[in-house]
Amino acid sequence: MSTDDLIQEAEAAVVALSTPPQPPDPYPHYAALRRANPVYYSEPLQAYAVTGYAEVAAAAKMPNMGNGPRAAAMRRQGWEDHESLRLFMRALVTLDPPDHTHLRGLASKVFTPAAIRRVQPSIERMVGQRLDELAERASGGEPVDLVELVASPFPVQVICELLGVPAEQGMLFYDLANDWTRVWGGGNYSDEELAKADESTVELRNYFDALFADRRRKPGEDLLSGLVKVGDESRLPPDDLMALATFLFVAGFETTTNLISCGVWTLTENPDQLDLWRERPDITPGAIEELIRHGTPISGTARVSTGPVRLGDKEIPAGQLIFLMTAGANRDPRQFPDPDKLILTRDDGPHAGFGGGPHYCLGAALARMETQVLFPALINRFSVIEVAGEPQWRTATGLHGFEKLELVLK
Ligand code: HEM
Repeated sequence: MSTDDLIQEAEAAVVALSTPPQPPDPYPHYAALRRANPVYYSEPLQAYAVTGYAEVAAAAKMPNMGNGPRAAAMRRQGWEDHESLRLFMRALVTLDPPDHTHLRGLASKVFTPAAIRRVQPSIERMVGQRLDELAERASGGEPVDLVELVASPFPVQVICELLGVPAEQGMLFYDLANDWTRVWGGGNYSDEELAKADESTVELRNYFDALFADRRRKPGEDLLSGLVKVGDESRLPPDDLMALATFLFVAGFETTTNLISCGVWTLTENPDQLDLWRERPDITPGAIEELIRHGTPISGTARVSTGPVRLGDKEIPAGQLIFLMTAGANRDPRQFPDPDKLILTRDDGPHAGFGGGPHYCLGAALARMETQVLFPALINRFSVIEVAGEPQWRTATGLHGFEKLELVLK
């Protein structure tokens, strides 16, 4: 292929990946970008698209890669007047050192392996209840929507349990949080959506304020009690405590939801691997990692270079927008031989699905535990798992999973 052809193919990929609706199968587009260059500069986009595994891993750890300026580059004018955008601009994922280091340190004191182990019995109980409901609804042979019944509500239920948000408020909070997260990406939303996001953010804040007050009076073992305690001890400004708690609340929703829906669909497409997993329960931890690699739930993240950076064969000056395409990195054949193939027993090293460096996913252990309980229980409860009709992929850019996935289960 000539250089011109490679660039033409890469630019077509840029358009396909950045214009909603997102293509159901984005992977050929990442491959096209990588063929042109694992660190590809798009003139029309005025940004770099990084799809090489080694390059994404290296970039995530470089000091000259800012998250704050990334958010600044994406935010709209007058953002300070909007409650929803102000709160997002203090979220862990948009901060840089020293603020990020400080707040992440506080969150890590509370979001510990022991705290996650504490909720394991509840997670096992929730999975049992969800599967009972699925079995009951599916018993007449009618298709059931996995997203509605499991993939969407289960992660919300788990984070409520962990934080100590009363279960009956969970789905209300979920709706408010969905209004809020709609304005997280660039300027890709209407004025009405922004107004709704502001209104819902105020409501969410009020609920959390009430919960903070309650935990100050009656501390429990939950994470909100822990956050209030470490926040008060370190004189954390109230807005930062709010941003920390609300971001922890929402960060695991869509991500884990996508892993569940995309993971189950991928298994139905690879029946030999599904059978293998049923025969070999010992492969569960690796199988979950392979599902994350193969169908990366969040397609990527972005940074802005805060100084000169050398990445791949590029010398990148300060002030450049750089997309770290973790989904592309996870299908890089230089790291994962035969990358489009699902191999549950693969042993090619860690995937890039949880990011890397100082912003490495804080909830990775929780996401792993949720899915390591759910998947084996689901595939062993039903000997027949078949997709019914046309599944509906999510259309929002950057998220890889289903809006609706109807299954026949027996
Ligand atoms: C399969 C599920 C999940 C995936 C694929 C995922 C992926 C990611 C990725 C790629 C990042 C890095 C973003 C960046 O570098 O800009 C991240 C950050 C984060 N994730 Fe997850 N995540 C998942 C589940 C969760 C869960 C269950 C929680 C629980 C609360 C969570 C909490 C966070 C937090 C707090 C951060 C920000 C960390 C920081 O900026 O220091 N995630 N996640």
